[in-house]
Amino acid sequence: MKKNILILNGPNLNMLGRREPEIYGSQTLEDIRKSCDVHIKGHEIQIDFRQSNHEGEIVTWLQDKMGRLDGIIINAAAYTHTSVAIHDALKLHDCPIIEVHLSDPKKREEFRHFSFIETLATKVIAGKGAQGYIEAIDYFL
Ligand code: DQA
Repeated sequence: MKKNILILNGPNLNMLGRREPEIYGSQTLEDIRKSCDVHIKGHEIQIDFRQSNHEGEIVTWLQDKMGRLDGIIINAAAYTHTSVAIHDALKLHDCPIIEVHLSDPKKREEFRHFSFIETLATKVIAGKGAQGYIEAIDYFL
């Protein structure tokens, strides 16, 4: 049985490549999705890679997947710092949660220092760019 991993991406991550490349790099989210696909080739793992600009949609996805996941990799983007709703929806799951950020929010503006996900995360990977997603997958390999 393949491990089911959900990779969730929050608001504005669909703009990667065009959005502040000096902070987030030049790769698009589609480039990141493809590298994740390449990385899992030949392994007993399947990934469902999603992005939404809507908090409620992310919450609904997490609800729908309750009891059906072996791992969650989440870059909740700005919702990291604001969303009790995503925090609560993540609590529906007892699988490992890996929090990923392309940049290191702790080294940026103060409003990015707090994370609603951190206390639920088995691991936080920040400041490693797109490679952070690969490292997060490695946790499950
Ligand atoms: C981010 C960091 C967040 O503070 C920011 O709101 C994002 C992206 C990152 O990947 O570095 O949108 O999660």
